[in-house]
Amino acid sequence: MENDLLLDEPRLHLCALLGRGGMGSVWTARYDGAPTDVAVKVTLAGHVSDDARARLRREARALALAAGPQVVRLLSDRTSAPTPFIVMEKLEGAPLSAHTTPTSRLPLDEIRAVLVQLGWGLGRLHAAGIIHADVKGDNVVLVRNGGAPEPVLIDFGVARTKGEEPLDSDAQPAGTPRHMPPEQALEPMRPTQRWDTWALAVLAYQLLTGRTPFEADDVGSILCRALAGEYVAPSAWVSTLTPEVDAVFAEAFAAEPDASYASVGGFVHALVTALAEVASFPEGAEHASATTVRPRGPRATRVSALAPTRLHREMVIA
Ligand SMILES: Nc1ncnc2c1ncn2[C@@H]1O[C@H](COP(=O)(O)OP(=O)(O)OP(=O)(O)O)[C@@H](O)[C@H]1O
Ligand SMILES: [Mg+2]
Repeated sequence: MENDLLLDEPRLHLCALLGRGGMGSVWTARYDGAPTDVAVKVTLAGHVSDDARARLRREARALALAAGPQVVRLLSDRTSAPTPFIVMEKLEGAPLSAHTTPTSRLPLDEIRAVLVQLGWGLGRLHAAGIIHADVKGDNVVLVRNGGAPEPVLIDFGVARTKGEEPLDSDAQPAGTPRHMPPEQALEPMRPTQRWDTWALAVLAYQLLTGRTPFEADDVGSILCRALAGEYVAPSAWVSTLTPEVDAVFAEAFAAEPDASYASVGGFVHALVTALAEVASFPEGAEHASATTVRPRGPRATRVSALAPTRLHREMVIA
């Protein structure tokens, strides 16, 4: 196939495009004679800048260091090839983002199981000094083994690993505005575990309510809402969710990182404990609309001291 010309690996054949991002593309592929497919992420042809190669190399390194449950398996690192690429196991399943609308939600017990496993996986990453930095439904594949849902993290394209050489492009915010805490946009050179804990809280909110907490038309407004704590309490969307569940999100979305959960495990434990008291989602219609939580007022904090106008002026998101 014509696409094979891209790769310096005659035994590996690209079959079908799975996705195309800013830096490259992901393909289903197969080695000669192999019984199963693999997934290949390759830098865009003609765009093999030093930065693109370094980024894919970092992705491969993070995947290798993060190896274990809940993380897609790296099979081969070919980031030194003329056209750099990595080979991963091919996951069979749907993205978790397929379950983030009011009509597509998973059953409550499966949401709990998925969050617990993502908490373990991210906790393991953090212990290894890795911040994923782009946790969201599109970057989690839900694999079903004998029926039980198993979430697997993919796309370590903007992950940051402790001790690695910073790239010039790290100074630009990277990630997904609706899923990131304000400080990820304002202080991109200072990755912390809260980037992932916040993003997991956004994903948990979506799985439970079928909505995104911080919604607006432009990037600056989304992040200003996040900074001001302007979101609808989950119980306002779903009547069976309790004030205890609301309180967990209030802590996860605290403006000041120090007032928030210290670890992803702390967040997941608190949420799962609160959800244990929730029997199920209500049958039939839910609240059609809900009022926005009153913003908490001015915040004399390290993050909010960085003027919100900067969010409007300077945000350029990959
Ligand atoms: N190992 C895999 N197994 C199955 N599907 C995969 C795998 N890796 C990636 N994909 C699919 O390819 C898509 C793109 O992959 P990934 O998110 O890593 O690339 P990306 O270049 O960062 O793209 P984007 O910018 O759109 O996030 C994923 O959303 C997923 O659907
Ligand atoms: Mg992705």
